[in-house]
Amino acid sequence: MKFSHFLHFAKFGIKTILFRKKEPILGTVIVTDKCNLKCKHCSVNNITAVVHPYDQIIKEMKMLYDMGVRILFFCGGETFLWEEGGHTLRDLVIEAKQMGFLIVNVVTNGTYPINLPEANLILLSLDGDRERHNAIRGDTYDRIMENIKNATANNICFYMAINQINKNAVRDVCETAKELPNVKAVSFNFHTPYPDTADLALSKEEKAECCRTIAEMKRGGAPVFNLVSAFPYLINNSFPTPCHQCVVVENGKISTCGRCIDVPGLCEKCGYFFVAEYTLLFKGKLKIVFEMLKTYLKYI
Ligand SMILES: C[S@@+](CC[C@H](N)C(=O)[O-])C[C@H]1O[C@@H](n2cnc3c(N)ncnc32)[C@H](O)[C@@H]1O
Ligand code: SF4
Ligand code: SF4
Repeated sequence: MKFSHFLHFAKFGIKTILFRKKEPILGTVIVTDKCNLKCKHCSVNNITAVVHPYDQIIKEMKMLYDMGVRILFFCGGETFLWEEGGHTLRDLVIEAKQMGFLIVNVVTNGTYPINLPEANLILLSLDGDRERHNAIRGDTYDRIMENIKNATANNICFYMAINQINKNAVRDVCETAKELPNVKAVSFNFHTPYPDTADLALSKEEKAECCRTIAEMKRGGAPVFNLVSAFPYLINNSFPTPCHQCVVVENGKISTCGRCIDVPGLCEKCGYFFVAEYTLLFKGKLKIVFEMLKTYLKYI
C-alpha cells in the first residue's frame, strides 16, 4: 500500500473513532445477481438475473466515491458474467482506479479465466477440498484450480464460507493457499443463516473449533487475512452490527453494511468476519487496530 493511501485510512480511522462518525469507507457494487452456479448455501443468486448497465454502475461508483468510500468491491451473482456494451469487468476495475478508489477488489467463484491484474485482491470462493467444495458448488474444483494456475497476477485471496458441509475443511483451504503461487492469502466467513439456509449454520462450539484451527494455521505461517483478536466476538456473535462504515449498492438501492440488512433478525447471527473486524476497529479496540495494521500491510 502506498504511504499516502495509508495516511488517508489512518486519518479516517482516527476521526471515526474519536468523533464516533458513521461515514462509510468501504463500498460494494453488485454488478449482477446472475450466476452460473447454484451453491447450496447461497440465497442471492439469480433472483432477477439482470446484468446492470455500464452507465448505471459508473453512476453508482461515483456516488460511493462522493460519499467518501475508498475501498471498492465488485460482487454478484458471478462478477465475471458482467459484460455490457463492449465493456468488461476488467474495464470496471480500471475505471475505479482512475476514479480514485485506493483499493479495488473483486469477488468471484473462479470458474472463468482470471485476468484482473489491476485489482488489489480477487476474492475467490473456495469452500474446501475437492470433495466438500464440489458438494457445495457443483463440479467446479478442478476448473477453478486450472484458472488459478493460469491467472495473470498473484492477487488471489481464497474466500471460504464455513458451514455444516465444510466445517472440517478449514485446514485444507489454508494448505492449498500456501501451495499456490498466485494465491497470496485466505479469508474466512461463517455461514450467515438466511431463512432458506438456516440448517447450514454452525453452533458456538463449532465456530470455536474453526477459530482454533484458523489461529493455529495463522501461527504456523498460513497467509490468513483475518484477525485472531476478533474471533471471541465472532464465536459469541457479540460484535456490534451493522457496520456503518460499509455500504452496498444494488440496482440503484443503497444499504448500510450488506444487502442482508432487510432480513429480519439476521444481523444478530451475522457470520461475516469483515463486519466484526471493522465494527471493532472503529470502536477503537486496540488489539484489533494493531493486528489489522500488521495483517493489511502484509497483503495489500
Ligand atoms: C454471493 S457470492 C458472489 C460472488 C461469487 N459468485 C462467489 O461465489 O464468490 C460472495 C461470497 O458470499 C459467500 N456467501 C454466500 N452466501 C453466504 C452466506 N449465507 N453466509 C456467508 N457467506 C455467504 C459466497 O460463498 C461467496 O464467497
Ligand atoms: S457462485 Fe456465488 S453468487 Fe453464485 S450461487 Fe455460488 S455463492 Fe451464490
Ligand atoms: S451485520 Fe447484518 S447487514 Fe451486515 S453483513 Fe451481517 S447480516 Fe448483513
